[in-house]
This record gives sequence, C-alpha cells and structure tokens, in this order.
Amino acid sequence: MSTKGSASEQLRAGQPLLVETFAEWREAARELLVHDVPPEAVSWSTPYAGGDLFSGAPPMAEPTHNSSNPPQPAPDAPRHPPPHVPRSLMDMLQSAACCRVPDRWAFLYRVIWRWQRGEHEVQSPADEDGARLHAMVKAVHREEHDMHAYIRFRERPPEAGPPRFVAWYEPQHDVLPQVAEHFISRMGKVSWMIATPEASVLWDGHTLHNTGPLVKNSEDLEDTGEALWLTYYRSVFNPARLNQSVMQQHIPSHRWKNLPEGKIVPQMISEAARGARKTGQYEAVGQRKGTTIPIAPEDAQPERQQPSKLDECRRCELWQFATQAVGGEGPKKAKIMFVGEQPGDQEDLTGQPFVGPAGKLLDRVCEAAGVDRETIYVTNAVKHFKWEPRGKRRLHKTPAQKEIEACHYWLEKELAHVKPTVIVALGATALKSVMRTANVTLKNSLGKPVFHEGHWIVTTYHPSYVLRVPGEDAKHEAFQVMVDSLKLAHDLLNRQPEEPPA
Ligand code: URA
Repeated sequence: MSTKGSASEQLRAGQPLLVETFAEWREAARELLVHDVPPEAVSWSTPYAGGDLFSGAPPMAEPTHNSSNPPQPAPDAPRHPPPHVPRSLMDMLQSAACCRVPDRWAFLYRVIWRWQRGEHEVQSPADEDGARLHAMVKAVHREEHDMHAYIRFRERPPEAGPPRFVAWYEPQHDVLPQVAEHFISRMGKVSWMIATPEASVLWDGHTLHNTGPLVKNSEDLEDTGEALWLTYYRSVFNPARLNQSVMQQHIPSHRWKNLPEGKIVPQMISEAARGARKTGQYEAVGQRKGTTIPIAPEDAQPERQQPSKLDECRRCELWQFATQAVGGEGPKKAKIMFVGEQPGDQEDLTGQPFVGPAGKLLDRVCEAAGVDRETIYVTNAVKHFKWEPRGKRRLHKTPAQKEIEACHYWLEKELAHVKPTVIVALGATALKSVMRTANVTLKNSLGKPVFHEGHWIVTTYHPSYVLRVPGEDAKHEAFQVMVDSLKLAHDLLNRQPEEPPA
C-alpha cells in the first residue's frame, strides 16, 4: 500500500481502495477493522474486471456510499485491538483471494468483519457467506490441480537462449504464483517460462521473475517440446503411488488422446501393474543400460549438486519408492538420541519418525523407564521407507548395508548438530549404522554400552521385535530389556567415558 497510501488515507481521499494482492488486502483490512469501518462503507477496486464465475452466489451489496463521498474513518474513531484470526480462516481467505470474482476483496472483508464481530459461523459451509467462501476455495484448489496436471512445456532450441522450456496456459483463477512454486520443485535447474494472458513467470534456474503478459497466445510458443514432455511425464510418474481409478477420475480416458502423454499412459499403467511398482521411475528415466529415451539424458536430467536438503537426497535408490524422506525430530540439544531402522508405512505418509505402532510402543517404554520422550531426539538410520508390495499393503523390507552407509551422511549431520551424550540403537540396522560396520550383532551388544566416536552407544531391541515376538512372556521380557536399556542410557548421562559401566 505504500505508493497508494494507507487504507484510511485512500478512503479519506474519496478513492476506492485499490488492492492487487492478498498482502495488500490484509494490511488494509486490518487497518479498517482497527478503525471499526463496516463493509458497506468501503469500496474496493482491483485491476481485474472479469465476470463472476459464481453466478449462483449472492451478489455483494453495493457500497451504500458514493465513492466521491465515502464515510471516512474519523481521526478520533474508536480504535479496536487488531483482530486475531485463526490460521484456518486466514488460509481460506488467502486461497479465496485467488478466485477471480469482481467483488473478491469486498467479500473477504465482509467475512472477516463478521468473524471479528463474533459471527464465527461465517467460516461454516452452512452459512451463506461461508458456503460461498468454501466454493471459492474449492475452485482455486481445483484450478491449481488442473494447472499442475495440464501444463505442457515445449522445448526451445538451445541457440534461442533461455528460457529453455515454455508453456502457455489460460487459468481461470490467479494461481500462477503457487503453481510456479510447484514447477520449481519439479524441474530442477533448467530455465522455463509459464505464460498466461494476465502474467508470466520466468524461472532462470535460481530465481523466479514475475512479469506482465509476454505472449498473446499459444501459437507464439514453439511446439518443439513434446519429446521433453514425455520424459518429464515419465520422471514424475511414480508407479508406486499409482491409483488408477483416481487417475481416471482426474483425467478421464477420453481426454488422454488430446494429451501428448496419452500414448504412453496405458503402457505405463500396465508396466506399473507388472512390476514397475518395484522399480519406480528408475527404469523410466533411462538410468539403466539399454533403455531408450526420446532426448539426451543430460537434457532430461540436469546435473544436480550434492543434496543440502533431505528431500533432494539421491544417494541411494530408496527415494524412488518413498512418499517423502523422514528426518529426525526432537530437541536440538537432546542428551539422548534414539536411532531406529527406517520409517514405516505411517511415517512415510506423515513425514515423522516413530508415529505408528512402533512409536506407540516406544512411548510405553519411555513411560515405564520414567524418561520423558519429549526430551529425546528420535531418528532413523535410513530416511526413506523401503518396502515391497504384498497385495494392497506395503511391507517393510530391511535396508541393505549400502543403503545404511549412504544414509549415514544424514545421521552424521544429525549427530553433529544434536551432539547427544548417549545413542540408543534400536535393533541391528541402527547398531550397524552408528558403529559404522556390518560386523556387529545385536546379540553380542545387548546390555553392553560402548563409548564410540564421542558418544555412549546402548543397544537394545527394535520396538517392532517386541510387537511381533510370539508369546506373552517373550514380549514382556523384550519390553523389559528395552526399559532397562533406556534406564541405563539415562544413567550414562552422568558417567565419564573412562568409567566402566555397571
Ligand atoms: N520403525 C523404525 O525403525 N522407525 C520408524 O520411524 C518407524 C518404525
């Protein structure tokens, strides 16, 4: 708002409030609420002048004043404390702000005004305004989804200079910024541009540039990128996550023929069913000998630096089958660190370690040992879920030594940051990882703490062992071993490395 003046200055000057972005609207709305300015006293304007896509929605009341003579917030108007708006409502308002309806800013202000006056039902779909708000949010999310799915990049000849890939799209709502973020995370360092009738975004490999409209229509973009598109599509298609019926709901088969990838989708689905689920995108992106890909691999797979973020890790192949990498969690300077094996099914989906059945058992062990789990840093030797299909289920598969070694890179980083005094290795994989050798056994290490590379290492069972060992006595015994190990870890916090453990 800085160049246009504050909301109350604009109102005092008899101008409608000119708002272009959600941040500007939020700042103006805050000021108006503080000055107790009712929605009907404000006239909003926006550069966009499209039609109302929600014609079934109740039209907004026209401002009751003439914009040349608006009620002005008096300098001595009562000031209210700035409103506290819950995150959930703010998120909805932010999404709805991308919806191209002519009265969007006025409508959002009416919602927040009502909410601030205690009419919290305004956030409910049962309320008339609430229903419209929900419909706007839904339309915006749908448009984001469609844009992710239907954008088609075309490759330009290298001699034409950047951007290397260009795409044209005519979005129905203002979702270009968030869609650009999606493609930044997908396209690596290669330069690209997405042009729309209202604006364009250009990614130069490092920075996103927003510009006004640069291209008038799709004919302005050269259609040379089909081969690249097929490669891109193959590389983002993850057979492990394929749900064919959902896919067909999103892109009905009759539309496939109009999509460049239409000709490869049926083949990829049948490959997924035949076993590509096991190999994920690996085969498809041509890393194996003998695989044919339609363009040079260096174009399709631009070189990447060593990962600085766990999610970018390609140090072994497990990333291809997992939903996401799962890092450790807990206090930054925890004195005890639990190291498990690898995320399980639930951890893979939620992105947090030990939240499934093994995690619940770990909670019970902590409770029985009298140690607050919240004080412990919890992580895994391997950060991606390794699994094999069994019917509809994903069954845990023990990581190989080379995967444990590859992932030690991340465990080392965690150890260097947290600097725990004691590491509790939960099971054999964790033990091999923290001892940096495959020549150790759980049996020989149980109950025998060692001081290694600056930390005490206490070895105990993995919680899954306690869950699946047959027989109540054996279960109870294994549970007790875990409790005793944690108590020992706690005692070691105050022991010098030279002192032999009790
Ligand atoms: N098993 C593990 O080893 N780690 C988890 O995070 C969950 C189950």
